Amino acid sequence: MFPLPQLDESSEEPIYRQLHEFIKQQILNGSLAPGQKIPPTRELAGQLGLNRATVAAAYEILESEGLVRGHVGRGSFVSGGQAHTGIAWEERFVPAARAEAPAPGGTPGISFASARPAQELFPIEEFRAACDEVIRGEDAAGILQLGSPFGYAPLRAWLLEQARSSGVAREGDDLLITNGCQQALDLLQRLLTQTGDTVLLEDPVFPGLKNLFASAGVRTVGVPVEPEGIDVEMAARLMAREKPRVLVVTPNFQNPTGATMGLTARQALLRAAREAGVVVVENDIYGELRYEGTGAASMKQLDETGDVVQLKSFSKLAFPGLRVGWAVGPRSAIARLAELKQLADLHSDQLSQAVLLRFAQTGRLESHRRRMLEAGAERLHAVIAACEKHLPPGSRFTRPQGGMNLWVRLPEPLDASELLSKAQAAGVSYLPGRYFAVSRHVPGSLRLSFAGLRPEAIEAGLAALGRVFTEELERARAARSAGLAPAIV
Ligand SMILES: Cc1ncc(COP(=O)(O)O)c(C=O)c1O
Repeated sequence: MFPLPQLDESSEEPIYRQLHEFIKQQILNGSLAPGQKIPPTRELAGQLGLNRATVAAAYEILESEGLVRGHVGRGSFVSGGQAHTGIAWEERFVPAARAEAPAPGGTPGISFASARPAQELFPIEEFRAACDEVIRGEDAAGILQLGSPFGYAPLRAWLLEQARSSGVAREGDDLLITNGCQQALDLLQRLLTQTGDTVLLEDPVFPGLKNLFASAGVRTVGVPVEPEGIDVEMAARLMAREKPRVLVVTPNFQNPTGATMGLTARQALLRAAREAGVVVVENDIYGELRYEGTGAASMKQLDETGDVVQLKSFSKLAFPGLRVGWAVGPRSAIARLAELKQLADLHSDQLSQAVLLRFAQTGRLESHRRRMLEAGAERLHAVIAACEKHLPPGSRFTRPQGGMNLWVRLPEPLDASELLSKAQAAGVSYLPGRYFAVSRHVPGSLRLSFAGLRPEAIEAGLAALGRVFTEELERARAARSAGLAPAIV
């Protein structure tokens, strides 16, 4: 017998979380035994009067925790099988805020879910050649030795020179190489905030950013992002009212919206931050990926005080698996970040850094960039055309000029979270808006990451999504006009 929970609809805890917690407790206290089958999502949804997607979301978390295993065609089972008499691991974990993050990597079918470069565009032969040259080079033994927390010195010098010549780095600035932008954000969180502090983030925002502050007990306040980027007036008001320690902003092709800030907005935001004494972190991870139009100078270039910390990464242009990014900022801050980096992991992998440097210095990065920009432009045009053609009337979407993402708002009463399982059944996935929400969530919102998909896949994927959304909209409208509560499943 599968025990049924008492779910509290009036609770602030979402129903899928309550259900997840209930089943988890049943497993941990032994009421559900290892190997025992748990009901199919459809059946449990029927018994509890819930939506199937709600039950599926609870099962997904149980699976990610290793408490439940799914077998295609056979259903889901409680994991384990042998009595475990050692440490009760679940009880040992500290109650830091759980980060509800989408699973990394791809999902089957056509996936608009991941903001990553197209793998088929990786120039593998050229990359192999760069590896070979590094390994056979004079510095090979030095590269394999322990290095500096600041990064592999030749790459650091090369990046710093580029930052200086483009006016990003000034006299008083320095540069630290990190394991991608993600580590730079994590180190900045450790350096600049502590439990109870407040930070200002764009809303919606990249989940990896809000989750890392949330898991450190830092309060995140969202500033709405419009098609022209963060709402500067609102940001100024919130800086005055909330006294945040930091503002993190992505002025180019923001994730998830694709929004880009114009020059005046950048200048106004810098002025407001200076007046409020707030540290500005400029996450410029997508800045290189401009497929059309001309961009404005970066916040770091525009900054008169030299206080902005700018983050960059190779991840979106080439090889995110190498995990190489960097931070440019005031020397004292970079020195303290390097100390924290040393505590975290001593330093970043030098082989990856050396290969990337070789890849860049031999002109291979430049050729790769050209191919990526060409492919990116094609894919961007394909996704905009397909959105126009297939999304149901009343949908809105952003029209970025670069980057990897665009943001869709479906007409009411469609809920992108609830429609995801239907889309997946039709062979297409995306990330619903709830993953990105900071202070406000719009149920109809979703992110389409297009850069990793060929134009034909983009067209086919959006055609399928369009069918799912349109069908559901028609069903909801028919139910409404018949006077029934709209049943969105
Ligand atoms: C806005 C933003 N910041 C940071 C990251 C992490 O990037 P990296 O691979 O450089 O750590 C991502 C990756 O998707 C991102 O979109």
